[in-house]
Amino acid sequence: MAKPRVFVTRLIPEGGLELVRQACEAEIWSDELPPPRKVLLEKVHGVDGLLCLLTDPVDIAVLDAAGPGLKVISNYAVGYDNVDLAAATLRGIPVGNTPGVLTETTADLAFALLMSAARRVVEGADYARAGKWRTWGPTLLLGHDVHGATLGIIGMGRIGQAVTRRAYGFDMRVIYFDPYCDPGKGPFVDVTVRCSLDDLLAEADFVSLHVPLTKETYHFIDADALAKMKPTAVLINTSRGGVVDHDALYEALAAGRIAYAALDVTEPEPLPAGHKLLTLPNCLVVPHIASASWATRTRMAVMAAENLLAGVRGERLPHCVNPAVYGAE
Ligand code: DGY
Repeated sequence: MAKPRVFVTRLIPEGGLELVRQACEAEIWSDELPPPRKVLLEKVHGVDGLLCLLTDPVDIAVLDAAGPGLKVISNYAVGYDNVDLAAATLRGIPVGNTPGVLTETTADLAFALLMSAARRVVEGADYARAGKWRTWGPTLLLGHDVHGATLGIIGMGRIGQAVTRRAYGFDMRVIYFDPYCDPGKGPFVDVTVRCSLDDLLAEADFVSLHVPLTKETYHFIDADALAKMKPTAVLINTSRGGVVDHDALYEALAAGRIAYAALDVTEPEPLPAGHKLLTLPNCLVVPHIASASWATRTRMAVMAAENLLAGVRGERLPHCVNPAVYGAE
């Protein structure tokens, strides 16, 4: 029997690729950059499965180009805002993602950004490297304490909770805003305080974003929200760039309305060279690396491969974000 045909839009870690190669006739895009739009549209033609990344917009045009044989879209990410979920669901195509395995790794980076921002780690490193370090100075590179500070978590899902656990280890006070989370559940319930968005913005020394990008969360942190934050506050974003209005953020940082932003994600990605946010000394940007540990990216690869293989075999995906395709349960 012929093997299912699949297109994989990038070289993912071998643990996952190996599974795909064994079971499928796989075409794997091996460039560092994502396949250009035109190429993606060509490559998906007639495939049974697509393993894609958050850098690949999978919209109606891609579904049309693939044709009626497309049985599964497996996204190598927990987020799936790059996929037109409604269109895939309408066509009965299950969409897979990689939840859980990247939670702790992403929380590690959110906390690293928080610590770097508070204690000016990147500025300090640049300072030393530039040969400016002449002596121990009583007021050299003073920052803010993390212990005792208030952390405001927006979105108390898995990653928000993992960041909260780290914050407890640093003796922080944690408050959170999440209209969807059940305050009766989760390890954080006894010690964290659920509050309104306005209270969180007004009280938090660090505001960390952990929401998916949806119509509702697009530019959730806008000029209004930034104006409600403390002038000493730090904004940390490891969710999606689109959650923050970058023009408003630039204005707020440039005018000192908030103290600092540490961004793992931006809109667009990458930010073009010379983008105004990259010119600010109080804005730290890293290239969407929150899940970037060897172990986690390998686990994501295996999970994405398992979703893909289940889909091409007509089996239920282990991690499906549109279970409606399987009918009423
Ligand atoms: C995700 O999985 O959604 C992250 O942004 C990348 O790992």
